[in-house]
Amino acid sequence: MLIDGKRFRTIWPAAGGAVEIIDQTRLPHAVAIARLESLEAVVRAIADMQVRGAPLIGVTAAWGLALAMRADPGDGALAEASRQLKASRPTAVNLAWAVDRVVSVLIHLLPADREAVARAEAAAIAEEDVVACRAIGEHGADLIAAIGARKGGEAVNVLTHCNAGWLATVDWGTALAPIYVAQARGIDVHVWVDETRPRNQGAALTAFELGQQGVAHTVIADNAGGHLMQHGRVDLVLTGADRITRTGDAANKIGTYLKALAAADNGVPFHVAAPASTLDWSLTDGVAQIPIEERGGEEVTHVAGALADGSMARVLVSAPGSPAANFAFDVTPARLITGLITERGVCAATEAGLLGLFSER
Ligand code: MRU
Repeated sequence: MLIDGKRFRTIWPAAGGAVEIIDQTRLPHAVAIARLESLEAVVRAIADMQVRGAPLIGVTAAWGLALAMRADPGDGALAEASRQLKASRPTAVNLAWAVDRVVSVLIHLLPADREAVARAEAAAIAEEDVVACRAIGEHGADLIAAIGARKGGEAVNVLTHCNAGWLATVDWGTALAPIYVAQARGIDVHVWVDETRPRNQGAALTAFELGQQGVAHTVIADNAGGHLMQHGRVDLVLTGADRITRTGDAANKIGTYLKALAAADNGVPFHVAAPASTLDWSLTDGVAQIPIEERGGEEVTHVAGALADGSMARVLVSAPGSPAANFAFDVTPARLITGLITERGVCAATEAGLLGLFSER
C-alpha cells in the first residue's frame, strides 16, 4: 500500500542477510525503517510491537528463524529460537503457526542448508499472506457492495477496531482489505476508527493508513461505537482476529467483544476477517482456551504522542501510583459474529461453516 504515494510493504529482506521493517512504534509521527540483524532483535521487535498484527508477527518470526540459523544452524539453536519467538507474544496463533511451519521444513535438513531454506520459507509465507489478504479484500468488498446497493449508493459506514490493515499484515490487511477493494471498485465508504486504547492502534495506525490511501474516515473514542449504532450510523462492523477457534470464537484486540455486543443489540452485521493462518483448529472454546496476553500497566497509565515541535512525549494520564491492568485481547463468542471473511470466502462462524471452506480439516 501507499505512504506518501510510494508503495510499501511492512517487511522485506535487506542486504547482508538482514530484514527491514517499518517501525510501527514511530507511526504516525515518523516513517522510520528499522533493520533487524539477529534473532534477539526480532524477538524484541515483536515483543515491543515495532511490528504487530497477527499475520505480520508470524512473518517476522519466520525471518527471525532465518537470522537465528545464520548465527547457529544447529538443532539446539533451532529449538531455542522457536521457543523464544513463540514466547514473544502469546495470543496470535499466526506466530506459532509460522514458526512451526519453518521448523518442520528445517528439521530434516543438514545445518549448512538451513539458513537459505529458512529465508525462502519466510519469503513464501510473506507472499502467501499478500495473496490471502487480497482475496479477503475481494470477498469482503462484496459485502460492502451489497450494503451500498441497498443504500442506493449512499456511503457505507464501516466501524473498525484496532489496526487490521496493511500495517498488521504484509500488504492489504484483513479487515481493511475489503475497504481498499471497495474503494477501488468505486463504492463510497466511510470508516469509523476506534482509537483503541491503550496503545491507540486505531488513532495512530488505522487512521494513518486510511488517510494515506485517501479513504474517508473519522477517529472516535472507543466508547462511541454503541451510540453510533443506536443512531443508525454504522452499517457494518469489520474487525480482524488474532486466533479463531474451530467453532468460530475470535480473539482480537481488547474491546472487540463490547463492539460485538453493541452490534448484536442494534442489528448491525459484525464480520471478522482473517486468513487461514489465524485459525486454530485445536481449540473449541475461545473464552476458556485462548491465551490472553497481559502487558505492562504503564501502557494504560501513560499515553505517547507528538508535541507541537514534533518531538515524542509520554505523559501520565492516571492518578499517580494507581495500579493498572492491561489485558491486550478479548474473545468474541461465535454467536455474536455474523460471518467470517477468509481467503476462501465468507462463512458462518461455526464449525460447519469453517469446514465448508476448509474441508481438508
Ligand atoms: O496488539 P496488536 O496491535 O498486535 O493487535 C492487533 C489486532 O488485534 C489485530 O486486529 C489482529 O492482529 C488482526 S491483524 C490483521
